[in-house]
Amino acid sequence: MDYGLLCSQLASLAEADRWYVPLMANAAALLYDAMADVNWTGFYLLRGEKLVLGPFQGKVACIHIPLGRGVCGTAAQRDATELVPDVHTFPGHIACDSASNSEIVIPIHSGGRVAAVLDIDSSILNRFSEADRTGLEGFVRVLEERIAF
Ligand code: SME
Repeated sequence: MDYGLLCSQLASLAEADRWYVPLMANAAALLYDAMADVNWTGFYLLRGEKLVLGPFQGKVACIHIPLGRGVCGTAAQRDATELVPDVHTFPGHIACDSASNSEIVIPIHSGGRVAAVLDIDSSILNRFSEADRTGLEGFVRVLEERIAF
């Protein structure tokens, strides 16, 4: 997985428009295309005390996730990446797509606060490695430096 290439592709896309709608839409498409064995890539945006579904690729998903609920709500509340090898063992996991078995969620900041999360799901158990965590956190840093909410 060439995360350096993905980061430069994302940076090029941001040159055309930094608004979060097209940038998140294309970022979700980039990841969905480039990553093997993923069934959902996308974003949830923090609005008040809950996360709201943003641009994504994959099956129809839950629209609202309360802060602290599920993998996404936990990552947003703790302001920390959640790498979950088996979602069925994660307390409060929200099953949007029953095919999902592992998941990684990375917080996205604006003005020093969590503004959104990047969520990637896989049907493979233990799909995401520490190398994926580092690569995807780098991808999110590139996004944070450019995105306009
Ligand atoms: N499984 C997530 C919900 C979002 S979907 O996977 C797209 C969670 O527990 O937060």
